[in-house]
Amino acid sequence: MGAPFFRVDHLSISFGGIKALQDIGFTMNKGEIFSVIGPNGAGKTTLFNCISGLYQPDQGSIRFKETAIENKKPDAIARMGIARTFQNIELFSHMNTMENILLGRHIHMKTGLFRGMVMWGKSSFAGREETRHRERVERIIDFLELQNVRDTFVGGLPYGTQKLIELGRALALEPELLLLDEPCAGMNSEEKQDMIFWIKDIQDDLGVSILLIEHDMKMVMDISTRVLAINFGKQVTLGTPEQVQQNTEVLKAYIGEEKQV
Ligand SMILES: Nc1ncnc2c1ncn2[C@@H]1O[C@H](COP(=O)(O)OP(=O)(O)O)[C@@H](O)[C@H]1O
Ligand SMILES: [Mg+2]
Repeated sequence: MGAPFFRVDHLSISFGGIKALQDIGFTMNKGEIFSVIGPNGAGKTTLFNCISGLYQPDQGSIRFKETAIENKKPDAIARMGIARTFQNIELFSHMNTMENILLGRHIHMKTGLFRGMVMWGKSSFAGREETRHRERVERIIDFLELQNVRDTFVGGLPYGTQKLIELGRALALEPELLLLDEPCAGMNSEEKQDMIFWIKDIQDDLGVSILLIEHDMKMVMDISTRVLAINFGKQVTLGTPEQVQQNTEVLKAYIGEEKQV
């Protein structure tokens, strides 16, 4: 048995008196859709912030393909192949779809992000590097079927489309591990169905492993290989969707909230 693809051990972090994460541990295999569930304030986003390097944990380790990343900066972690989306949309509303997705390529740009943007489309300057970035972005636009909003400012686009563009920007990094923080939050049921479809496609067609925070229990149970439930920063249970669904504490937390956590 080789080392796991991704591994978190004894992870803890506090903010003042609040123990946001306490002794969290799990492993992920390559190709999994691994979900993290728990009520608001449980510590889910904090876990993502620790993994993506925005927070430094007080204790514990995070290993990606055997390399410890818990003390690395966000850029270094991104360069290793870990991308994320945020709970709230963080797009540049006055830029178009293509430009927003291009932002996700910045870690791959030797010429620098803004030079890359200025050069964009100017064929006289379009060296090999620009061409490669252009091709990658166009491929993502095609993959997510965003062609008809390619040149539209994102600010005026429907919410579900904006979430999809955010997903595209994360994919532009060419991640091996993708962290999705509530990708369906605020979506109507049709938008949700679409997003589930894209997440499965990213796993199947692109071979990207996915760490997912999601409130919709049905979705979590449908698409996850395994589920970690946390509350007050502590593990409640960890197992297959079937196992987690039968846990009494999970049941208690979800009943009365119409199976939403
Ligand atoms: N930067 C921070 N400063 C202070 N408290 C924080 C910070 N980040 C998270 N917390 C606290 O940690 C707890 C977990 O928050 P969060 O991870 O956002 O929960 P979830 O994503 O599960 O809803 C909350 O009590 C929150 O207020
Ligand atoms: Mg959160």
